[in-house]
Amino acid sequence: MSTSYLRTTPTPRQDRPGDLCVRLEALRAQLAEGKPDDVAQRLLSKVCEAVERLHTEHTGMAEELLGVYEQLGIIFEVTGRLSTVQTESGVVDLFVDSLRRSAQGRDVLAVEPGALSGEVAGSPQHYTNNWFGALLRQARDRRSVVVEAPPEGSAAGPVSEALIGPVYAGDSFVCAIALTRGPDAKPFRASDMLLLESLTRFCGDVICTHRLVREVREMSIAMVRSLVNAVDQKDQYTSGHSLRVGYFAILLGKALGLDEAALQMLQWSALLHDVGKIGIRDDVLKKPGRLTGKEFDHVKEHPVRSYEVVQGVPQLARAVDGVLHHHEHYDGSGYPAGLAGQDIPLQARIIQIADVFDALTSNRAYRAAYDWRKALEIMKREAGRTVDPEMQEVFSRLMHNALDGTPDGWKRMVERADRFTQVAEEEASGSAGE
Ligand SMILES: [Fe+2]
Repeated sequence: MSTSYLRTTPTPRQDRPGDLCVRLEALRAQLAEGKPDDVAQRLLSKVCEAVERLHTEHTGMAEELLGVYEQLGIIFEVTGRLSTVQTESGVVDLFVDSLRRSAQGRDVLAVEPGALSGEVAGSPQHYTNNWFGALLRQARDRRSVVVEAPPEGSAAGPVSEALIGPVYAGDSFVCAIALTRGPDAKPFRASDMLLLESLTRFCGDVICTHRLVREVREMSIAMVRSLVNAVDQKDQYTSGHSLRVGYFAILLGKALGLDEAALQMLQWSALLHDVGKIGIRDDVLKKPGRLTGKEFDHVKEHPVRSYEVVQGVPQLARAVDGVLHHHEHYDGSGYPAGLAGQDIPLQARIIQIADVFDALTSNRAYRAAYDWRKALEIMKREAGRTVDPEMQEVFSRLMHNALDGTPDGWKRMVERADRFTQVAEEEASGSAGE
């Protein structure tokens, strides 16, 4: 949102108190020539003083008002951009960036806890051992905004004054936001302190919310992981299947250029695609030999059963397509709806590729797992019959790019796939190992 209109100087009135004062002064001079009495002169003098005082107050109020407009502008800007920020560091960067835009010749920086305590390699030495460092620690320990000029003779460089606010998410110190000014910039005012106090508090609250959302998401994923593990373990040959399908589906989804929201729904859909198997009889699901027609019909109920589980969760409304249609075939010979080609939802076509690939590279009662290259060759033969031919090509290319020339690449990929949801969370928080 543009905030430029908030920074416009208010249009001056035609009758400025200063002008009025000048006119009154002239009137007083005229009256003086006409020899008015002392009472009239004293009265006029008082009027002039009052007008002058009002003029001064008006000017001060106008400056304060402009300051408030600036502050509102920053807050509007921050709130307008908050929804685009995914990480804690992104939240801090957003607040610092917004402050910089109206810095008026002041420097703005965020100082992380590590730098403050000197634990970060290469952190500026002055954070830990001089006036500025002491002021940062003071703001952190007092949990309030501090403002101070460097003492005479300190090595504060070009800094004439510093204003520092700590950011706390609950009881956790996140960072300090510091504004410094040189000798030519305007001194910090009470409104600057109030603004920094409001923004650091706001920043801390946003980070608290981020942490809460992340905890809830992690809990949801952990619960889904437990659920799908329970389903997968109904059959020793499908143990870990749903997690690996989720992993391969996300690899393909990223290669196809899906946006973050679509990837999130793809993840849920892929994880839950077989959850309906919980309703399939064990004697059928675990039957080592060939299924009868009736038994196969019972197994074929599982996409609809999965759909019935997932569609009961409103937040997963955009994950149902992949769940319901992951056994459709590109040539229309699949189930449950017999959809063909591009009529099969994109999510379902992606999950199907991941599903078939994991099935081929996993051990079965009747055969050993295929090597990943062999699995891709089999899938190439299936392109256009069961799986989407374009997606099969993209998937094959991405697997070759990732695994060719890396002897233990497949082993490491399967390890990552087996702990898919943890990997996804680590990547989301920026702590993934590779
Ligand atoms: Fe399935």
